[in-house]
Amino acid sequence: MSGFEGKTALVTGAGSGIGAAIARELAECGAKVIVSDLNADSAEKIAAEIGGHANVCDMTDPDSVESMVAFARETGDGLHFLVNNAGISGDLAPVGDYTLAEWKRIIDVNLNGVFYGLHFGLPAIEASGGGAAVNMASILGSVGFPAAPAYVAAKHAVVGLTKTAGMDFAKRGVRVNAVGPGFIDTPLLESLEKEQYDGLTSLHPIGRLGKPKEVAALVRFLLSDDASFITGSYHVVDGGYTAQ
Ligand code: NAI
Repeated sequence: MSGFEGKTALVTGAGSGIGAAIARELAECGAKVIVSDLNADSAEKIAAEIGGHANVCDMTDPDSVESMVAFARETGDGLHFLVNNAGISGDLAPVGDYTLAEWKRIIDVNLNGVFYGLHFGLPAIEASGGGAAVNMASILGSVGFPAAPAYVAAKHAVVGLTKTAGMDFAKRGVRVNAVGPGFIDTPLLESLEKEQYDGLTSLHPIGRLGKPKEVAALVRFLLSDDASFITGSYHVVDGGYTAQ
């Protein structure tokens, strides 16, 4: 896959699940990977495994995100790829029962964090000679899900933000796209009961949940030179979930 050799890629929420799989994938393609996460231990573990550089960042704190981007530029001699992947699932409750505190917590990580990443990251990529970014949305960026108002709203907003950011940077050498995974087997789902897990599985026509590596393959493609005419768009990897 073309365009990664010697370039620098920053992946947020890369200490676990989908982010860790993306970090591994990009390292295999020859990128210098900055493994950023709120959790220092997991960032260091994945960075050590792939020969990358660990960074601790809280995506809800703009100063922390600005420092993360500066760290990536200095450590990697420029920044060429950004994957805004960090996200949390949150409580399940119908809109009328959803707490205001939980609404703010989810919006802060899953939407504001993505905006901060783009705000500081895209100009840095442009200044480094161009590249690409991918935002981690979800199938819930295009369809609803009962009792997940904040998560669904944030992921829909990430799709809209991606379209605008893609247009803003289309002539500035930075492509921006969003990915919409179906339910993927990661620690994000570990609080589910077996019945809930089986229920989610049955929603995917392909008959199973996705694997982090299957999402990483799409992200790698969208970042690569092979996707040179793709920007401002949203791409699902969902085992047929949204085809129904
Ligand atoms: P995960 O829970 O395995 O990993 C998420 C990582 O983000 C963790 O390492 C965590 O420490 C980090 N993180 C959380 N809050 C943070 C913050 N404020 N600042 C920096 N890092 C923070 O989750 P998973 O499943 O790998 O999810 C990754 C992304 O994929 C999320 O945006 C999620 O919404 C999205 N997604 C996941 C799906 C799934 O079924 N697992 C389906 C569709 C989208």
